[in-house]
Amino acid sequence: MVTPLEDEVVIIQSTATDQDIVYLLQLLDICQDSRISLVIPYFGYARQDKIFKPGEPMTARAVAKALNPFLESGNLFLMNIHAPSIMVHFQCQTMNLDATPLLAEKIGSLGLKDAVIISPDKGAVAMAKTAASCLGLECDYLQKTRLSGTEVSMAPKEVNVKGRDVVIFDDMIATGGTMATAITLLRQQGANRVYLAAVHPVLTGSAVLKLYRSGVEAVLATDTLDKGVSTVSVAPMIAKALRSNQ
Ligand code: R5P
Repeated sequence: MVTPLEDEVVIIQSTATDQDIVYLLQLLDICQDSRISLVIPYFGYARQDKIFKPGEPMTARAVAKALNPFLESGNLFLMNIHAPSIMVHFQCQTMNLDATPLLAEKIGSLGLKDAVIISPDKGAVAMAKTAASCLGLECDYLQKTRLSGTEVSMAPKEVNVKGRDVVIFDDMIATGGTMATAITLLRQQGANRVYLAAVHPVLTGSAVLKLYRSGVEAVLATDTLDKGVSTVSVAPMIAKALRSNQ
C-alpha cells in the first residue's frame, strides 16, 4: 500500500522479470500525479536493443514506450545500460550512471599487485579503462565471437597475463558463458588468480557453478540485482545522482 501524494517521488526498481515491470507500472500509476525520479538499476531486455531478425520486437524500446507517459515531467536514471542507444527511446531526461568506480574500489581492497584489467570484448573496454585508471593498472581486451545465445568463442589475443592476477570487467554476467570462456583462455595463457567484476549479476541457471569450474578466484558484483555475489552497494551512487539532480 503506497500513498505518495507528495509533489516529488523517487522510485527505485530493477526490472529483472516481467513481474518487476508490472510492479513498476503499478507504482508509476499510483504516483502519476507527482514528479517522478525513476531509478532502474538493472534494466531488463537491454540486450533486445535492436531488431536482430525481421519480425522480432525491439523489447527495450517497447518497455521505454510503456514508461514514457509517467515520466513526462520527471527523469530517469539507468546504470551501465548494456546499449546506451536505448536511452533515445525515453522522452525524459535520462542519465546512465557508471558503477565501475565502485567495483574498482572493491578490487582495490583486495590488495592485488601488478594485476591486469581485462575486458572480455570491445564492448566493455570503456569500463576496463575506467577501472584501470581508478586502480593505476594496465588494461587490455579479448576478442569475442558470439556463436549463439549461450555459446561464445574467443580468439587468442596478445595479452601479457603470465604469472599475473587478472580482473575481468563486464557490464553483466548472464549465462556466464562469456566469462567462463575468458577465464579458461586467460588461465591457458598463464594467468595467476582470475577475478570477475560485473555491474549486473544476472547469473541465470548454473552460471556461478560454471564460473567456479572455470577456475575463477572470486566474483564481485553490485546489488543492482540481489544475488549472493552482490557485495558492492550502488546506493551511495544513486543518492549522489539524485541529490545533484535536485
Ligand atoms: C555482452 O555484450 C555483454 O556485455 C555480456 O558480455 C554478456 O551479456 C554476458 O552474457 P553471458 O554471461 O550469457 O555470456
